Amino acid sequence: MKILFVCLGNICRSPMAEMIFKELVRKQELEKHFTIASAGISNEEEGKDIYPPAKKILLEKGIPIEKISARKITQSDISYYDYIIVMESYQKDRILKSYEVLSSTKIRSLNAKDVADPWYTGNFYLTYEEIYNGCSNLLEKLKKEL
Ligand code: 4NP
Repeated sequence: MKILFVCLGNICRSPMAEMIFKELVRKQELEKHFTIASAGISNEEEGKDIYPPAKKILLEKGIPIEKISARKITQSDISYYDYIIVMESYQKDRILKSYEVLSSTKIRSLNAKDVADPWYTGNFYLTYEEIYNGCSNLLEKLKKEL
């Protein structure tokens, strides 16, 4: 099952979700079932690694970190991934407007409520909790489809 996490810049929330989801999958020894990555809807942060405060909270929580190179979502991502998990509902709207999406049900929000943007709130702890809970629930749901 191929999962792409998406936020605005691909330097805070979606890489946090990617690293947390990968860790949850590893802990349950489900790695062979999943391909997990992240992207942004903007190219403003292109090529950058995870934003340092986001890295810091992942390290504090014991989540292994991989180096990333921030990138914007592409049309081929839309076809390749089975689920595109957005952090805020406007990102789903933007994807549906800007790309050809054959099955709009594959684009889902991580949580019922938008994940707070830590770039503006400065509260990486709150964002971590929201993403961690969302990723745990998502994994439980997706396990039923394996
Ligand atoms: P992200 O955070 O979407 O969670 O990666 C942001 C990163 C950069 C900006 C906004 C949000 N920015 O405006 O540059």
